[in-house]
Amino acid sequence: MEHTTVISPEQIAAQLDCCQAVARLTAQWDAQPLAFVDTYGCQQNEADSERIRGFLAKMGFGFTDSEEQARIIVINTCAIREHAEQRVFGNVGALVHVKRRHPDTLICLCGCMAQQPHVAKKIRESYRHVDLVFGPHALWKFPEMVHGLLVQRGRTFSVDDEAGSIAEGIPVVRQDRVKAWVSIMYGCNNFCSYCIVPYVRGRERSRRPEDILAEVRQLVSEGYKDITLLGQNVNSYGKDLDEPLDFSDLLEQVNAIPGDFLIRFMTSHPKDATQKLFETMARCEKVAPVLHLPFQAGNDRVLKVMNRRHTREQYLEKIKALKALIPDIVLTSDIIVGFPGETTEEFEDTLRVLEEVRFDALFTFIFSPRQGTPAAEMDDPMPREEKLANFNRLTALQDQISEEKHAAYVGKTVRCLLDGLSDDERYDLTARTPGNRLVRVVGDPAALGQFRDVRITGANKWSLFGELV
Ligand code: SAH
Ligand code: SF4
Ligand code: F3S
Repeated sequence: MEHTTVISPEQIAAQLDCCQAVARLTAQWDAQPLAFVDTYGCQQNEADSERIRGFLAKMGFGFTDSEEQARIIVINTCAIREHAEQRVFGNVGALVHVKRRHPDTLICLCGCMAQQPHVAKKIRESYRHVDLVFGPHALWKFPEMVHGLLVQRGRTFSVDDEAGSIAEGIPVVRQDRVKAWVSIMYGCNNFCSYCIVPYVRGRERSRRPEDILAEVRQLVSEGYKDITLLGQNVNSYGKDLDEPLDFSDLLEQVNAIPGDFLIRFMTSHPKDATQKLFETMARCEKVAPVLHLPFQAGNDRVLKVMNRRHTREQYLEKIKALKALIPDIVLTSDIIVGFPGETTEEFEDTLRVLEEVRFDALFTFIFSPRQGTPAAEMDDPMPREEKLANFNRLTALQDQISEEKHAAYVGKTVRCLLDGLSDDERYDLTARTPGNRLVRVVGDPAALGQFRDVRITGANKWSLFGELV
């Protein structure tokens, strides 16, 4: 196994000293300096942005959503599909005008895109208004890099390829008061042939259980009600730890923390989702009855070329075993349409899986070639129109299933977490069922942040509607 670097408490203390040094500089500026942190990509990136905000707050920054008002702009990027990258390049390109108007504003680009050598090169050569570029591996050194830029100017690039590290004790400013992310592991060892994540996030490494449990206890004491344990493949949690502890054991320990809260987790990989996990989910009353289990494609030949290491039959058997233990389990999945060489006939196997499993919701994507991954080099003869037609068939089928599954809620009373205020004026609040379905609710906004019974009065393919009981 490749070596995981553990960042020592002294190294983090030195970063916090850098925060203070920056705070002494910013204290001399005219007004309280503001920071704008813009996040793309998955929950892991959201969680990273919360740590970047944690550091920025220690440096004396407040927060804004305005590029014009910010003295530091941090763009935390995602490399999963080309579309995500194009949006970032467009937005970063436009910042050249902001930099012209406010030459003192620091522009930073970080996250998964920055970790790719060809992106770092492009930024170095063609986006000269970007001051700081760093990948996920260098996040823990953010204060030192900002301090360096403020005292000596120039540009900084910290994008070395690494197996990855674990750093405890980084401050966090969370975006939500009800729901929280807790990373339990970083990186991925699976190398699915289409996916960039293992190249930009390094090898799998698990946080120590005591650090995770302490963080969850703290969150529960602060009133958080919905806690999501994060990792690219949480089912392989613990494989690199000295003590014999797997993800199911960890779930059991988190479940034992006193308090009224829900535990969610993502993502799970079908090849590592075990009977033990399903039994643990069924037994632990705080673990939400929902599983996000991506299967990507329904055809065995395609799955093999994707390097997913499971067959369609194995996937279906696992779902069957899970449904036997938790009949009302809410199931969601990720699917890629148009993987290189996938024929329309093979794609139809994906539709058959949908019909058999009847997922509650899906995240569907058209294959996007990622430089450096094996799939980007594969022959891809299918015309884009045919891929799009298949994609539309897939979403039409899922819309129909989602609508039917949502309709079955109408008339029921469900204990939901009221997690937000509604932006639709016909409703007061938004809520989530234990299975994480969105409910728009009529009722007293003072109930925000509580678990309450909601009577479901209506549904469509996207969400449920209801009223507080
Ligand atoms: N670790 C998770 C998901 C990571 S990325 C897992 O293994 O399930 C989220 C989703 O993006 C993937 O499940 C996949 O469906 C999609 N995805 C990843 N790479 C892609 C690519 N090159 N083109 C299109 N979709 C992709
Ligand atoms: Fe990507 Fe596969 Fe790892 Fe998920 S398991 S992050 S799809 S390589
Ligand atoms: Fe994107 Fe990186 Fe997440 S590539 S999906 S932000 S791990």
